[in-house]
Amino acid sequence: MIISDWLNDPDSGKHVVLVTLLFFGAIETFGGHYKGTKRTRDDWIMEFLSFFLLSINSYIVLFGIIYLGKTVFPDAYNSWAGLSWWIAVPLYVLVDDLAQYWYHRSAHEYDFLWKHHRPHHAAEEMGVMVSWRNSWLYYLFLPNIWWVAICTFLGMIPATVMGLIFKQLIVTSSHSTWKWDEYLYRIKFLSPVMWIVERIIITPAFHYAHHGKSKADNISDPNGNFGNAFSIWDQLFGTATFTRQFPTEFGLQTDPKDSWSAHLFYPFVRSKKEGSEIGRDFQREKTASLEAVQVELEAGTHLWCQCGYSKNQPFCDGSHHGTKFTPIAFTLEKKQKMKLCNCKQSKVGPFCDNTHLDLIKANPDVE
Ligand code: FES
Repeated sequence: MIISDWLNDPDSGKHVVLVTLLFFGAIETFGGHYKGTKRTRDDWIMEFLSFFLLSINSYIVLFGIIYLGKTVFPDAYNSWAGLSWWIAVPLYVLVDDLAQYWYHRSAHEYDFLWKHHRPHHAAEEMGVMVSWRNSWLYYLFLPNIWWVAICTFLGMIPATVMGLIFKQLIVTSSHSTWKWDEYLYRIKFLSPVMWIVERIIITPAFHYAHHGKSKADNISDPNGNFGNAFSIWDQLFGTATFTRQFPTEFGLQTDPKDSWSAHLFYPFVRSKKEGSEIGRDFQREKTASLEAVQVELEAGTHLWCQCGYSKNQPFCDGSHHGTKFTPIAFTLEKKQKMKLCNCKQSKVGPFCDNTHLDLIKANPDVE
């Protein structure tokens, strides 16, 4: 009876979020994670404030949807309350997760959204509080809070609460420094089981790769692994990378260390840091040129800039965030001299194939 009352209370979703956060937060605290933390005062303020901004946005959207729904579609109010849990829970979770996948992916591919998701990737270490680092506007359009509000209006409150328990456990644990999958990967006979697990839900290894600083470590893929609770969308849409390893460097490749206020309230507050993407005068500038670049590279993995915006041509410096471009990684066995493409039109990826000479011939006036 008590459980059924709790499942029918729209506020229970908030309890789930808070309890999950406290649970993983306690494991991290007692596990000594916050000793010697890299977090600055701005990081702490951003993470706590971001959590409250999300809660405020959720209430605004919830009350707005219920008020609007009752006014425009009065007959729909509570009309799905009788839906079987077997249908309602998967319906809530799958629609929510697919919408989250595309919203998150768009936040990496479109400039406006990227600037609102960027605080999440400016974190230089993982931890439960990293799950709450996005701008106020990013949270206002977060599909999850709109879908929770719609499901609540339709009367699917218990299904929504159960779905939230499942989602929060996965989302919070995938950011946590308590990497539950790392222990299980070490047990050889569990390997096939873990293969199945990681192809269904988001594991810490899968999500850590998304937060890794750059692809150059052969583990990270900041432009992939976008899933929230399920990894099935990444596999379906070609953005999944499974390595079972954990990056050691997190954050932005080029980080001007913007203030918490600019991070959370862009475009109303702009960064004063030089070159910041959320600064007043920032403009993405093309730095590609009709000239190959002669380099001598050490053995190892290098990232070639494909977007043409890097300030460190022909190499990637992270300027591709907020575009659909991603860098191309190539690995050298030994130190080598070579000509790298800088017109970004070469048909052999990072390496110059003299396409720039054809481009010069076709457009002699263009530099
Ligand atoms: S800066 Fe990364 S691909 Fe251009």
